[in-house]
Amino acid sequence: MEEKVEKMKAITEEVVNLTASPLYNERIKNEVHPVVGEGSYEADIMMVGEAPGKNESLTGRPFCGSAGKILDELLKHVDIEREDVYITNIVKDRPPMNRDPSADEINIYAPFLDRQIDIIKPRILAPLGRHAMRYIFYRYVDESFKMTISEVRGRKFKAKFSYGEVFIVPLYHPAVAIYNSSRKDELKKDFEVLRSMIKEKLSY
Ligand code: URA
Repeated sequence: MEEKVEKMKAITEEVVNLTASPLYNERIKNEVHPVVGEGSYEADIMMVGEAPGKNESLTGRPFCGSAGKILDELLKHVDIEREDVYITNIVKDRPPMNRDPSADEINIYAPFLDRQIDIIKPRILAPLGRHAMRYIFYRYVDESFKMTISEVRGRKFKAKFSYGEVFIVPLYHPAVAIYNSSRKDELKKDFEVLRSMIKEKLSY
């Protein structure tokens, strides 16, 4: 455990000092924070969002704004405690005006995500939304993976990671449900996949 804490601290320090990032100057100008991640270092489930929004960059915590409220509701729906999950984003600094992260931004931050996966060693990796989904499939499943988030959401994909077998369960990004209650119903149903996996004691 101590080793995990040390490794995560090193990542935080590197992200804080990532002057090479195209988002670094924006962070300094706006006097906001990067968001490295939060949750249990022993988590079975790791969730990966897109990038911090306004509230997240102000607090340094992932999913603490309106998308976070929906995420909390979804976790509650499936009896999963937020504290038991590790939550992070693929991009650790807020893109201006909440625009989509660029390929350059994803490329510069993705190695931190890879290291976080290697520290937490989750049995279930749940990308939230298309950006995290695309990267995780490209990196860990198949470089030519072309499916869309609507085709893969709520499904389980077995993948081989350096530390063992992992189930990738892509989910819609919780923000899709902010103004769309039918999307929230779909999200609730997809999250139930996580509950059954946990209930079956990860013997999928
Ligand atoms: N959206 C994300 O993708 N991540 C956050 O932390 C907040 C909103």
